[in-house]
Amino acid sequence: MAKQDDKRDALQMLAADHRKVEDLFEKFESARGGAARSKIVRQICEELTIHAMIEEQVFYPAVRDAVEDDMLDEAQVEHDSAKALILSLREADPGDEFYEAKVSVLKEQVEHHVYEEERQRGSLFAQVRKADVDLVAIGQEMAALKRQLQEQAKSGSLPPPDMVALRS
Ligand SMILES: [Fe+2]
Ligand SMILES: [Fe+2]
Repeated sequence: MAKQDDKRDALQMLAADHRKVEDLFEKFESARGGAARSKIVRQICEELTIHAMIEEQVFYPAVRDAVEDDMLDEAQVEHDSAKALILSLREADPGDEFYEAKVSVLKEQVEHHVYEEERQRGSLFAQVRKADVDLVAIGQEMAALKRQLQEQAKSGSLPPPDMVALRS
């Protein structure tokens, strides 16, 4: 995984993360049994927590001057609103009230966010591609942080996601 990331530029890395989470949401839908479902949800929460940290700490600051002003502010609010669901799902079990609903709303939010990052006309990625930014260098910095966070996740010390825009 880490080796692959070293060969990818920033946008390829982020797109690969997006595909991975989309696959996990699909797996959740076909998984049967509480243990299997909660394992997948834990993976989704971990992947999204790491992905959000990489974007917020490395990618978004690196491209801030290259994209429309309000775009990254909106992205940050979307991240935080997904984090609220992640924080709630970290404490939840598949039998709990609203569990399925939380997973399904998280999926919708992620789909919408990914659409704005990658696919809509004038998407974040499209703006970044047009700009003069070193996507290989940014990708290397992202890969280094990702390795560090994945190690923390493996040892159980990945912190819960941190609110930026919706801090109370
Ligand atoms: Fe993303
Ligand atoms: Fe994002």
